[in-house]
Amino acid sequence: MREETISAILERIQQETGIVLSRATDRARISRYLDNGGILPKTHEPLPDTLLNLITTNETYFERESHHFDRLIDEILPQIDRSGVSKPIRILCAPSSSGEEAYTIALRILESSLRLTRAIEIIGVDISPEMIRRAQEGVYSKRSIHALKPEIVQRYFRMQNQEFKINALEGMSVRFLSGNLFDPYLWNELGNFEIIFSRNMMIYFDKSKNRELLLRFRDHLEGFLILGHADDHIQARELFTPMRKERGVIYHT
Ligand SMILES: C[S@@+](CC[C@H](N)C(=O)[O-])C[C@H]1O[C@@H](n2cnc3c(N)ncnc32)[C@H](O)[C@@H]1O
Repeated sequence: MREETISAILERIQQETGIVLSRATDRARISRYLDNGGILPKTHEPLPDTLLNLITTNETYFERESHHFDRLIDEILPQIDRSGVSKPIRILCAPSSSGEEAYTIALRILESSLRLTRAIEIIGVDISPEMIRRAQEGVYSKRSIHALKPEIVQRYFRMQNQEFKINALEGMSVRFLSGNLFDPYLWNELGNFEIIFSRNMMIYFDKSKNRELLLRFRDHLEGFLILGHADDHIQARELFTPMRKERGVIYHT
């Protein structure tokens, strides 16, 4: 009976969130969730926050795969800013985890010599409510900021209980919301973007969910898609136009 409940929970997670959990340790995690009073929610009920926090792998840090931020500053933003449009440039981090990627983008722009005519709006989305809470709090460990230059840390962070709290970033809109990227209602709320970063999430999904996600990106993107090196580049190449450089590939619509 218990094994069946665990299987039903894993099945529900995969269908709704895309996350494939097939290892024995995943079953053990769900078993502990049940021991602590967790339940299999009814079909019409959302997956509980405790379960979402438990099943996600949230590894991230400032400047992860930093060559993507180089290309953002050197190629992508100058090109978009030339388009003559006056509304803000909208950038999505899907997923954002605890916010390091979104803040790296903001810090890179602030530190660049770009004189953009358009405002910047950065939105981070993650299915884990705990990660979104942390992103909104903006407090980071030493490990999380290890790849930042000391002068950047000094300029943009202040100490708080042995950790690093990011300051308000002047002229930069960075916000976070929790949501499932397979939820069409979330996309109604999000709207459209000129740049989508989707790094290090597809590795947890199967091929069909990756395609569903890429199609959703295509519907809401007029511009550039940046994937992590281990994400689904095979299907991305079928749906977007690749732009290759020595260090990896990014895509445009
Ligand atoms: C390894 S982190 C990647 C964070 C960041 N993009 C990076 O590369 O450093 C993967 C994140 O994907 C999130 N995630 C997994 N499935 C999701 C879904 N269906 N919708 C939104 N976020 C999801 C997890 O909660 C986790 O925080």
